[in-house]
Amino acid sequence: MTRVPLISGNWKMNMNHFEAIQLVQKLGYALAKHDFEKVNVTVHPPFTDIRSVQTVIDADRMKFLLGAQNCHSEISGAFTGEVSPAMLSKMAVSYVIVGHSERRHLFSETNEDVASKAVAVYAQDMTPIVCVGETLEQRENGNAREIVETQVRGSLSGLKKNQLESLVVAYEPVWAIGTGVTASVDDAQGMCSHIRHVVESMQTGAGEAVRIQYGGSVKPSNATELMACDDIDGALVGGAALDSESFARIVMYQES
Ligand code: 13P
Repeated sequence: MTRVPLISGNWKMNMNHFEAIQLVQKLGYALAKHDFEKVNVTVHPPFTDIRSVQTVIDADRMKFLLGAQNCHSEISGAFTGEVSPAMLSKMAVSYVIVGHSERRHLFSETNEDVASKAVAVYAQDMTPIVCVGETLEQRENGNAREIVETQVRGSLSGLKKNQLESLVVAYEPVWAIGTGVTASVDDAQGMCSHIRHVVESMQTGAGEAVRIQYGGSVKPSNATELMACDDIDGALVGGAALDSESFARIVMYQES
């Protein structure tokens, strides 16, 4: 089976809507149509930018797919300050990151929360990018594989067969996020292979189909070797996604 790689730019809480328009326009100039032939590319701006970015993507017929960084698990209701998956779907968002480690650690999201968000994202015909990853302490204690397995099983527990197949999982070791330290190719490949086996054990056939991204200090200089790994099908990029040149070079990893 050939899995189409997915390169995603997670802008986190950066870029106001004016800056967001500029960034996506610059990305549009930096990438040619053929750069999108073998990969899918998503951009995940903050909620307040999504409508502006959507308008630019539409007007210029860009090939980027629109993503969000989070959502609530309910469609509507008294949840002050939250954003519904149905609202995102209306703005042509097609991928939603759920369970990013910053949300797990800074906002106390549990595997159960992440599982209900993943179900809610699919219910609105979007695809979740479910993030998992161990902390440095967990890795040093030798628990990384067990922790990640528990996160995968817990976060995907509500999904149906075809959803487990079309899903995206992002392996983002917490110690590699925003630190400039990237997991070694062997560590990244090893954990992504483990994740694939766990998904396969949940649903026969899904392991082969699921796309698994690596995230954590991905840059143009390490994208090619990471993406060459058998079980790595893309990248979830933070800091380097805020610079149009860097992100474009990561998207073009196969040409470098
Ligand atoms: P960095 O690429 O800045 O390490 O961030 C990774 C990340 O958290 C993407 O979701």
